[in-house]
Amino acid sequence: MQEKKTPTAYEIHPLIKERWSPRAFAETPISETEIKTLLEAGRWAPSSNNLQPWRIIWGLKGTDTYDRIFDCLVEFNQGWVEGAPALMMGAFKKDMKDGEKENFHALHDLGLFMGNVSVQATSMGIAIHQMAGIDFKNARKEFGFPDNFQVATGIAIGRYGGTAETLPEDLQEQETKVTRERKEQADFAFNGNFKK
Ligand SMILES: Cc1cc2nc3c(=O)[nH]c(=O)nc-3n(C[C@H](O)[C@H](O)[C@H](O)COP(=O)(O)O)c2cc1C
Repeated sequence: MQEKKTPTAYEIHPLIKERWSPRAFAETPISETEIKTLLEAGRWAPSSNNLQPWRIIWGLKGTDTYDRIFDCLVEFNQGWVEGAPALMMGAFKKDMKDGEKENFHALHDLGLFMGNVSVQATSMGIAIHQMAGIDFKNARKEFGFPDNFQVATGIAIGRYGGTAETLPEDLQEQETKVTRERKEQADFAFNGNFKK
């Protein structure tokens, strides 16, 4: 298993600390029940006005839906994602119930959904890798979303334990890099005014 070091400033929960986004996955398939378990975790995420604006398309490797999601991804992501046992797409409803007002927090809430999915996945030894690199206009048409929906992400799903050598050469270094990096808290959290 690829070793990763997460140098936290404070002790945090192992399910958060141990998550990372692999591009190489173990070959073991993901089952429909596992996908539905991940979706159930997402389902119970909070959302603004409980509007639950998230919409998810999912497909297991070897199915038509998987191939159609794959075809919507940008070339860079297609270059590494083919080993993933399952693919998802995350979309959100852009307006409120009555369609008159924009739901400004819809993308935020899709993020909360994926946060739940991500923690649940780690607890099951499942890894997810989210992708902004998707032709979102094509994807919206391909899967029949109306105009008031926006496709936001592709999501690769598999198990930890893949081998970096299966990846395109330029991505192997990133996959095997041991120490993960983040900004310091002082760069993004202020007990007072915003600081540059
Ligand atoms: C919304 C979102 C979009 C992302 N888009 C891509 C992408 O298109 N391709 C890719 O290889 N990784 C993508 N990533 C993965 C990030 O690069 C990764 O989460 C980040 O480098 C932190 O690494 P970690 O998840 O292993 O902690 C995306 C992640 C998120 C949350």
